[in-house]
Amino acid sequence: MEIYKENPEMVRGLFSDIAGRYQVVNHLLSGGLDFYWRAIAVRLIRSWNPSSVLDVATGTGDLAMAIRKACPNARVIGADFCLPMLEVAKKNGLPELVVADGMNLPFADQNFDVVTAAFGLRNMASWEKGLSEMARILKPGGHLLILDFSLPTLPVIRPLYRFYLHHILPHMAGLVTGRKDAYEYLGVSIEQFPSGSKMTALIESCGFRGVKAYPLTLGTVSIYTAIKSGDH
Ligand SMILES: C[S@@+](CC[C@H](N)C(=O)[O-])C[C@H]1O[C@@H](n2cnc3c(N)ncnc32)[C@H](O)[C@@H]1O
Repeated sequence: MEIYKENPEMVRGLFSDIAGRYQVVNHLLSGGLDFYWRAIAVRLIRSWNPSSVLDVATGTGDLAMAIRKACPNARVIGADFCLPMLEVAKKNGLPELVVADGMNLPFADQNFDVVTAAFGLRNMASWEKGLSEMARILKPGGHLLILDFSLPTLPVIRPLYRFYLHHILPHMAGLVTGRKDAYEYLGVSIEQFPSGSKMTALIESCGFRGVKAYPLTLGTVSIYTAIKSGDH
């Protein structure tokens, strides 16, 4: 399963295959909580009053669309390396889309007020490269927001959630998408992805300061915000 993260072509192929059903499955498996997670993220972003936002790994564009709605004066661009996902984003009404690898973004340095990535950084072959690119294209003092899955730390919740993640979720999602393996990969990728203080240290090491973590829904999802350091 580790093979997916190490292999961008497999990640791209996987999202190409499930693009048409991605949003429905998301809403289904999260019980609609994904709307709530995005709403919290958007509230933070709106408080920064940005003029320009890049949503990396935008996929079907859900977060980018929510940001556009909340920040009508901001220019919001969605970038992703999977064309079929971007085609859904286009149908959903996101006008500015760029086919791009999050680890090699086609933007000049110091371009954006805010860079976001929802459930995207985890899938990149190198989290350091992804975060460093985000730091590079942010203006000095610009804001980063990462929204992604995390493992709960509470003793009873953690094993229950792990059971759901590895034994129930892949079957349910497999029935709808026909790609059970994609959702087995999801569980593996969540296990491997750093959270809490490890994620804070990772973000800081890639050119950011002032990292804040907001665990949501019993710690199954976390939002991290940070500010681009002056020396990058
Ligand atoms: C789980 S989806 C998240 C989509 C969307 N941000 C959301 O919140 O629903 C992950 C997305 O990351 C994209 N992705 C993964 N690795 C990427 C990379 N290196 N560069 C750009 N996009 C990438 C995939 O194509 C996919 O659309």
